[in-house]
Amino acid sequence: MSFHLNNITIENILPMIQEVASQYLTRENSRNITVKGDSNFVTEVDMQIEKAMKERLLSLYPDTQFMGEEKDNSDVDFTTPVWILDPVDGTSNLIHDFQNSSMSLALAIDKKIVFGIIYHYSTKEYFWAKKGQGAYVGTTPINVSDTTELSRSLVSFGTSPYDKATLGEKNCQTLKQIFFTCEDIRRIGSAAIELAYVAAGRVDIYLERNLKPWDFAAAIIIIEEAGGIITDYNGQAIDISKPSDILAGNKMIHEKLRHTIPL
Ligand code: IPD
Ligand code: CA
Ligand code: CA
Repeated sequence: MSFHLNNITIENILPMIQEVASQYLTRENSRNITVKGDSNFVTEVDMQIEKAMKERLLSLYPDTQFMGEEKDNSDVDFTTPVWILDPVDGTSNLIHDFQNSSMSLALAIDKKIVFGIIYHYSTKEYFWAKKGQGAYVGTTPINVSDTTELSRSLVSFGTSPYDKATLGEKNCQTLKQIFFTCEDIRRIGSAAIELAYVAAGRVDIYLERNLKPWDFAAAIIIIEEAGGIITDYNGQAIDISKPSDILAGNKMIHEKLRHTIPL
């Protein structure tokens, strides 16, 4: 199929994800673990799902490129359409059988995300959006929350677990500040699920330092199409080709929290 945005449909993408998940997401594969870094692991599930998605996406859409967490991406050229995949977001959860892991898949054209889907492997919910067409969980439209006060806001907080040495102290200060300012804090352990929950209005805001493009790419369009805002901690637009701090929420809480957190 030659590349055209009209051919990027949930009907084409969802069955691919469901089929790959049912084939490779097994307890046996998730027990086959390799250490990548500090608190950072990869399992056979991550590797097999990435390989299977890459094969299927490039065979259905031959004029596209593929960027994935578990491969070398130095040759990726953003002047042509690029798929951006995190095969398992929440690998620690998968290893511990904590039932909160997801696939995050986005399509970038000219460095702008035009399609994104976050698939929750345990609940089978899928949060998705296409440019200009709204955001959905399954077939139901979603919107960010309408909370206006920080004291009434539920904040999902990402701990940057692989950067404890450099960001740990700073993150603890931020966490303390938020805890005493907001209603309460949540931590699921999959940035993509937490960002999807912002889009669905289940939490008011999510923040985490030093996320990678595959953690946040799909969420950019899902949150924007759900009426929210996603920026770095300074309120600046995100460059999807680089790691970035991420602050994503409804517009009122985003504006208020941005001026509260220590940078
Ligand atoms: C991680 C998860 C985690 C977040 C980390 C991410 P991974 O992704 O989203 O919740 O705190 O910053 O790197 O390694 O499970 O794909
Ligand atoms: Ca991830
Ligand atoms: Ca991952």
